[in-house]
Amino acid sequence: MYVERVSLTDFRSYAQLDLELSPGTTVLVGYNGVGKTNIVEALGMLSTLSSHRVSSDAPLVRFGAERALVRAGFVRGSQRSMLELEITPGRSNRGRINRGSTIRARDLLGIARTVLFAPEDLALVKGDPSARRRFLDELLTVLLPHLAGTRADYDRVLKQRNALLKSARAARFSRRGPGAGDPSGATVESTLEVWDSHLARAGARLLAARLELVDRLGPHLDAAYAQLTDGSKVARAVYRSTVEGAVPDAEEETDDGGDAPSSATAPAAARSGLAGLDVDAIAERFLAALVQARPRELERGLTLVGPHRDDLELLLGDAPAKGFASHGETWSFALGLRLASYYVMLDDSAVAGDEPILILDDVFAELDSTRRARLAAIVAKAEQVIVTAAVDGDIPPELGGRRIRVVPGGVDEGARGAGGGDG
Ligand SMILES: Nc1ncnc2c1ncn2[C@@H]1O[C@H](COP(=O)(O)OP(=O)(O)O)[C@@H](O)[C@H]1O
Ligand SMILES: [Mg+2]
Repeated sequence: MYVERVSLTDFRSYAQLDLELSPGTTVLVGYNGVGKTNIVEALGMLSTLSSHRVSSDAPLVRFGAERALVRAGFVRGSQRSMLELEITPGRSNRGRINRGSTIRARDLLGIARTVLFAPEDLALVKGDPSARRRFLDELLTVLLPHLAGTRADYDRVLKQRNALLKSARAARFSRRGPGAGDPSGATVESTLEVWDSHLARAGARLLAARLELVDRLGPHLDAAYAQLTDGSKVARAVYRSTVEGAVPDAEEETDDGGDAPSSATAPAAARSGLAGLDVDAIAERFLAALVQARPRELERGLTLVGPHRDDLELLLGDAPAKGFASHGETWSFALGLRLASYYVMLDDSAVAGDEPILILDDVFAELDSTRRARLAAIVAKAEQVIVTAAVDGDIPPELGGRRIRVVPGGVDEGARGAGGGDG
């Protein structure tokens, strides 16, 4: 698929931007801070409904405005569709398809397929497990939009379960016995059991989907990493679940579960302990893990096992990438993960006819000339690639395509098409 038109209203720095795009390669060129990333961020949002830069909506709305509107027209084979996302901070965002009636934003998922790589993606390798969980879940909801509902169910149950654990903990510490208005031990236990089964059911569906996705990503990650580098090291990703074994007692975490069973524990198995299990079997394991963790959970007032605390362990050779990989290797690994996402979507598109749109934000400046050329060769085959760069010199000559000069507040119409024909 490709995007043929983007229109932004009060999105980031743009009061109004209307931009026409074409298949093949397009390079958005303009100095730092001019608004290039703002454009590709908007496109990414139509695909994943979240920004790759911020977790709240407020910064997405032009300063002083109340809401932002992102609109884009996509072409998929002979089919055209117009997607619209209205972003209103503090309220749920809304969508529209083909100027129809207003729908939940979530119902836009699965239509626009973009894969965006940006400098922020270094966090996939260097950052907390939450960045890698997000990577998996965002890709999953583009591939299988119904999982957004599963994810929402899981989060809701998790929140309620945590609230119960927290109040049980508070009751214990306040030393007021049962009958003083706090949940008694027996009530807590039986209520927990109800939440446990809900949590395990939604969680197992999410886990099964993540595991399958990691299996699909594996070969592509290895191939993409080899293509980007000299091929001397193997890049792997192994799903590590808190559900597959006991939670180490010494584990540290932030309040929403920053750290999972981590790469610091032992050189571990090449596959997840849950690999090959079906949803029911995973749910059983999940319940068993909850039972095992219960004393610790009551002590901490927090759900300690489940997909919200899992990690995707990234390995370069036998060493964890985090902490061990060089700067260049970290870049290549992060890029390899995004390219692997692209190829997983591409595998699907053979039937569905929607080849994903590849977006590379500010990537080439960071790569040496060899890696630039390698990346250019990989992306040249895509149906549509949108690249941003501060200066023309950052763009490898092999890339060709169309140049669009981004200037404050918009694009320079006069400069369009300059700098190379469609190759
Ligand atoms: N909500 C907003 N309202 C107004 N301007 C914004 C908003 N968010 C970001 N900007 C402006 O957008 C610019 C950054 O744009 P960006 O697309 O990141 O630049 P680049 O071309 O370097 O990728 C900055 O000047 C920033 O002040
Ligand atoms: Mg930028």
